[in-house]
Amino acid sequence: MDHKKEVWGSRLGLILAMAGNSVGLGNFLRFPVQAVQNGGGTFIIPYLVCFLLMGIPLLWIEWSMGRFGGRRGHHSTPFILGSMHSGSLWKYVGVFGIFTNIAVAAYYCYIESWTLSYTFHSIRGTFTGLSQTEVAGYFNDYVSMGTNFFGIPNEAIFFFIICILINTYILSRGLAGIERVAKIGMPLLILFGGFLAIRGLSLGTTAASEEFPLANAWDGLNYLWTPQYESLLLPGVWLAAAGQIFFTLSVGMGTIHCYAAYMDSKDDIALNATSAGFTNEFVEVVLGSLIVVPIAAGYFGLDWVKENIGFGMAFQSMPFLFSQWGPVLAALAGIFWFGLLFFAGITSSLAMGTPWMGFMRDEYGWGQNKGALSFGFLTLCLGFPCVIFYQHGFFDQYDYWAGTVSLVIFALAETILFAWVFGIDKGWKEINDGADIKIPVIFKWVIKYITPLLLIFVFVGALFTPEGNNWVGAFNQIFSGQGWPLDHSSLVMQLSNSELKQNLSGAINADEIK
Ligand code: PHE
Ligand code: NA
Repeated sequence: MDHKKEVWGSRLGLILAMAGNSVGLGNFLRFPVQAVQNGGGTFIIPYLVCFLLMGIPLLWIEWSMGRFGGRRGHHSTPFILGSMHSGSLWKYVGVFGIFTNIAVAAYYCYIESWTLSYTFHSIRGTFTGLSQTEVAGYFNDYVSMGTNFFGIPNEAIFFFIICILINTYILSRGLAGIERVAKIGMPLLILFGGFLAIRGLSLGTTAASEEFPLANAWDGLNYLWTPQYESLLLPGVWLAAAGQIFFTLSVGMGTIHCYAAYMDSKDDIALNATSAGFTNEFVEVVLGSLIVVPIAAGYFGLDWVKENIGFGMAFQSMPFLFSQWGPVLAALAGIFWFGLLFFAGITSSLAMGTPWMGFMRDEYGWGQNKGALSFGFLTLCLGFPCVIFYQHGFFDQYDYWAGTVSLVIFALAETILFAWVFGIDKGWKEINDGADIKIPVIFKWVIKYITPLLLIFVFVGALFTPEGNNWVGAFNQIFSGQGWPLDHSSLVMQLSNSELKQNLSGAINADEIK
């Protein structure tokens, strides 16, 4: 067994790998949807506040926990958390940081595989000459059951397997493999995104035609970026903003600890973590808001975007809109767009594999090949239900539990561990050890009080989300003695309802009848 300390090849490699970990499908598929659904400009202030008071502090916490554990030879959250306090409880909390990754990787890799397939079809010109309805229909068929002999979406499964093989191969090359992908993928992603953004902003019609209404790309941008202060009083918007910050920065999952565990023990955290975090925010708020929304608004108008936004728009509308640019530019734009998504996706899914591999190596001495293969296998097995039940709501439920709820719980636990159990004085010292910049001391206070309070607020909010996310109405109702109207999506309701089971059994029956 080879237990010599594995470390990142260079500082640039570390930052790019960390930025690649954060920059993902969430920046391009999730952010615009969250922003539009939460009122555009109303979303942006809570979002930025959550970034500053929760996101950045959590990055510092996770980076320094990771480096702390790495110094002691640990590379996954059970042991990293365990090394910060003698109680065995924390080790078990750390287990979240392995399983959440595998659970999220399962559907994340599935979506990643769509981007692979769509890149391929853009090159082939599959979407040339199709109408909007046909392009949307193509996607629906792609993820549908029962369109062929085996009754499973063959092509989707084919690309899913290819995608997992690619991930497995790169993971088997260790940190060097991840670093190389990040060094190639991140610059390309920014280049591709820049091209699409600039092209997008020049879009608009001067008069309504038969096919398109009077539309302008800038309407989309203005809608996203005109701050609306009344949103500060809407807890629902805050919850959505907090959830997006978690997902997009990859905090609360264990991947950041794991990457940081492979740093040199005296490497800077303050500047590196901040740079990686801001890179993610640049890609998210700049590139993430300059592509789907403006391009769609440039053709169909803002109202259409507001009504139809969803993460499928990236697949159901973009290829059609690109085809307005003529066959050559359309192919190029398709390659840029889906290629960008693929690079964003793979640098994140690789990150999700490392905690499992680190754990199996530290605990059982598994080598890289065995670690990577077992991760690929687990992801494939867990991914299958996502493939098969995609259209029956399984996906959303799964994303909610694995990709939202457990992140918040884990982040809350680790913040308490760091600031209160390990102790903020020691913690602050860890963050600033070897630092290349001086973090304002006020953040010591933020980490101790504000971050955990915000986290508790988010968690309690998720537990008790009222009907229709209408908090003002719910408070009025409870004060007038009518009780609190719980929404179906609230955690409390989720814990007690069997809607998912019904959906699933309904789905299975429907398939049998066919
Ligand atoms: N941050 C990634 C995104 O924006 C998702 C992710 C979450 C990656 C957790 C790794 C760990 O898509
Ligand atoms: Na992200």
